[in-house]
Amino acid sequence: MRKAVIAGNWKMHMTCAEARAYAGSFVPQMADLPDDRVVVLAPPFTAIAALSEALAGTDIKLSSQNVHWDNGGAYTGSISADMLKEHGVSYAIVGHSEPRKYHSESDEQINRRALSAQAADLIPIVCVGETDSQRSARETERVIRRQVEQSLEDLDPSRMVVAYEPIWAIGTGKTCDAAEANRICGLIRSWVGYQDVVIQYGGSVKADNIDQLMAQSDIDGVLVGGASLDPISFARIAQYRVPVTI
Ligand code: PGA
Repeated sequence: MRKAVIAGNWKMHMTCAEARAYAGSFVPQMADLPDDRVVVLAPPFTAIAALSEALAGTDIKLSSQNVHWDNGGAYTGSISADMLKEHGVSYAIVGHSEPRKYHSESDEQINRRALSAQAADLIPIVCVGETDSQRSARETERVIRRQVEQSLEDLDPSRMVVAYEPIWAIGTGKTCDAAEANRICGLIRSWVGYQDVVIQYGGSVKADNIDQLMAQSDIDGVLVGGASLDPISFARIAQYRVPVTI
């Protein structure tokens, strides 16, 4: 049985003081979390230490929003896996569409980042997804298959998460239809070739669509941006309820 991974990506939001205040509200709401899921918060690098302290003694995990492929060296502005581990980080988002777009990150670089994460015992959350125009041109499957093949090369599929994030659904309020998101996640599972790989959906996930998304057979969690910034809405997402089928 795959354990669901519910991750909140704060992007470039939250000072240390705001992160502490968030934890003060969020942690008590996680007290009775069912044990079929893991909750992860991905603050900006500067708030990792403060949040790590605020989450001490809880089951909530920490993620970075990126990680460098090298362990150290002349890479101004970068952070290594060992630096993250020192603060109790256990996941690392790589290949998110924003660094792919604004920093021209390639699948090859993303693959190296993910490999360095795994080498340091971090679990990479590797993002893939098509643009609006690629979907309109019916290139979705081809684009995602290429991203899967190149970004995930040589990774251990039992120690990674793949996040299917259609770019047109990120921050737009346009959630991908749950059945379609499930279809793509199923394709990704078959391309990875490992039945138990954890696959998230991301893109305008909210408190009012989480239950429907998590009811899908191939969606094993979510990567949440905007709705993770409010501790009440993200707590509702983490406490998703899936109808019991007999
Ligand atoms: P969103 O972002 O939930 O605000 O659409 C998702 C993401 O970028 O991971």
